[in-house]
Amino acid sequence: MNENFLYSNPELYEKVYPDVNNQRIKMCLIKIQRYLGELPSCLADFGCGLGRESNAFSSLGVDVTAVDINRDMINFAKRNGSATFILEDVCTVKLNQKFEVILSLGNVLSCFTSNQKLNAFLDNVTSHLEDDGLLIINLWNGARFLGKDIKELAHEVTIDIEGSNTCGKSIFILDRKNQQIKRIRNWTVSNAEIAIDNFSYRLFFPEELRYILESKGFEVVSMEDNDELIEGDFSGLELTITSKLTKR
Ligand SMILES: C[S@@+](CC[C@H](N)C(=O)[O-])C[C@H]1O[C@@H](n2cnc3c(N)ncnc32)[C@H](O)[C@@H]1O
Repeated sequence: MNENFLYSNPELYEKVYPDVNNQRIKMCLIKIQRYLGELPSCLADFGCGLGRESNAFSSLGVDVTAVDINRDMINFAKRNGSATFILEDVCTVKLNQKFEVILSLGNVLSCFTSNQKLNAFLDNVTSHLEDDGLLIINLWNGARFLGKDIKELAHEVTIDIEGSNTCGKSIFILDRKNQQIKRIRNWTVSNAEIAIDNFSYRLFFPEELRYILESKGFEVVSMEDNDELIEGDFSGLELTITSKLTKR
């Protein structure tokens, strides 16, 4: 079972993974401008987490519906903006609406370690997207890890909130057969253990994801290996894929 202490502690999540300079939001705005020409009237955010992008688009006048399976994330997001937040599984939720844009950012897709879950997610995205609607996904880039070990990922984070000394120490194991990175993270407060995460991220390769998206009726309009949209050699950590639903 995937356990992620940070998902249940959004304030810590925000400190560990800040969106420096609102880079993700800027990236989405650029993609939308390029492939839609204008802001959409409605947008869905699947796996919205803290609701950063949802609330940013809502503040621009877009009608935003955001879904996450984690109650703590949804409660945090609701306190920080005006998008509509729904506590549900993105693989099964029925919103009775189609959207011009769907976002699924920050490794949501990597959480679907089984093909069955992945399939359910993509079918549900497709059923909620308008014809020619835009899907923007971003996740860890499997190609980065080709032929590498993953020691580079090991890290320790210490967050001092109101005098508490919260520390997370991670080790990563590469499971090549299942194309997964497993992270084991020990959390301590003032050296006393409070939680252990066991979390697996599925790795996708760029062309693999193109193929999967095409099989669901999408045309991939751009791929980058970063969220700053700089042309790269696909050794970057963040795979950003933008696609349009052109066939049903
Ligand atoms: C790494 S966070 C990314 C959050 C946000 N999109 C961002 O970029 O900051 C992944 C989020 O996906 C959510 N998630 C994972 N599986 C989900 C599912 N089946 N249905 C809904 N949300 C899910 C988690 O609860 C978590 O909030």
